[in-house]
Amino acid sequence: MILSYQDNQLHMEEVALATIAEALGTPSYVYSKRYLDEAVEQLKSAFAGTPTKIHYSVKANSNLSILRVMAAHGCGFDIVSGGELSRVVAAGCEPGEVIFSGVGKTVEEIDYALKLGIHCFNVESEQELNRISERARNLQKVAAVSMRVNPNVDAQTHPYISTGLRENKFGVSAAVAMQLYQRANEDPHLNPTGIDCHIGSQISQTEPLLEALTGLLTLVDDLERQSIKLEHIDLGGGMGIQYKDEDPLDIESYGGGVAQILGGREQTIFLEPGRSLTANGGVLLTRAEYIKPGAEDAPNFAVVDAAMNDLIRPALYQAWHDVLPLKSAESACAKTWQIVGPVCESGDFLAKDRELPIAQGDLLAVTSAGAYGMVQASNYNSRGRPCEVLVDGDTFSVIRRRETISDQLRLEREQL
Ligand code: LLP
Repeated sequence: MILSYQDNQLHMEEVALATIAEALGTPSYVYSKRYLDEAVEQLKSAFAGTPTKIHYSVKANSNLSILRVMAAHGCGFDIVSGGELSRVVAAGCEPGEVIFSGVGKTVEEIDYALKLGIHCFNVESEQELNRISERARNLQKVAAVSMRVNPNVDAQTHPYISTGLRENKFGVSAAVAMQLYQRANEDPHLNPTGIDCHIGSQISQTEPLLEALTGLLTLVDDLERQSIKLEHIDLGGGMGIQYKDEDPLDIESYGGGVAQILGGREQTIFLEPGRSLTANGGVLLTRAEYIKPGAEDAPNFAVVDAAMNDLIRPALYQAWHDVLPLKSAESACAKTWQIVGPVCESGDFLAKDRELPIAQGDLLAVTSAGAYGMVQASNYNSRGRPCEVLVDGDTFSVIRRRETISDQLRLEREQL
């Protein structure tokens, strides 16, 4: 268990979270190294029947220390910007283990990736393929490319994070992909090495993922008949986790299904998981600043020191995150709370209608915050972003310090 109450105190691994909150203040993101280690190893064993390479999706949590943990398990990286590539390099990880996704790669980003010698570009349009070819010619390189196919499969997830339908901006149709492979095959500066898709995030059923793979295999076989032999098939990320009562994706049956559908084909399977490796390994610690009991049947508000700028998922996707008191036997009796931040808009909430005891000054942990938490934090209301902490057994270390107001002001100049 990553989170457990020991002597009424919520612990992550063997560290009382209140100790971290007292030492470093709140709001703070705290991650469990043990969770990361176990999540990667479980995924590897679910795919043990197939040659598989995990490329951790940096966007989920891009802290350098997290990247180093992933690299230690042999993961490569899925990136979507030059900034993420710089992070991989800064973490001391291998650029040759990087695949570059995203619909809008700039000339500068492509050049940077070519010079570093990344493993492969996941290409999302004809114009992008042309640009990569031109830049590779310019730099006298050969770019390995994989076409991102939009398989028109419904991932049955939140519309903002569904990416595999024709109406989404991602990838190209199977027919266009075939043309792009022919084009790439004839170009001395392009080497078509793979094929990929990513149909969405927080997917709980294996069927859409396996349906997408089946679609890719039709193309893989067609290409092979035209003597274009691919080395890898990239299924993207998207493996769903449990936030509340939803079923997490059954990775064992996903891995088993992939092995079965793949048959005897020799391509390596690439995976690009983000959320499933990090989300449930992280919490956001926050303190109740004020309690505003509602008169009659008006709601009770607990105003905490974390806000939508720190964790935007509830405001943006109506996402549900559990909220746990750091002390299990608080003095105040349980009431139903709207847990809100100090930001000046009504969309600023972390949790609604939660029954738990909260008194002024109490510490709380917002759970499942290890993915798409800190990476989506902003300075809205000129709030400094939280610090990040990594717990390992009975120790913890700061892996990013709290942002100060000088950090924010440093980039600005007074203009008269
Ligand atoms: N590969 C590609 C090409 C992606 O676009 C994504 C996520 C992933 C991999 C990783 O997906 P995951 O395994 O984490 O589901 N901000 C949203 C999630 C956006 C996901 C975007 N793409 C959230 O907070 O739920």
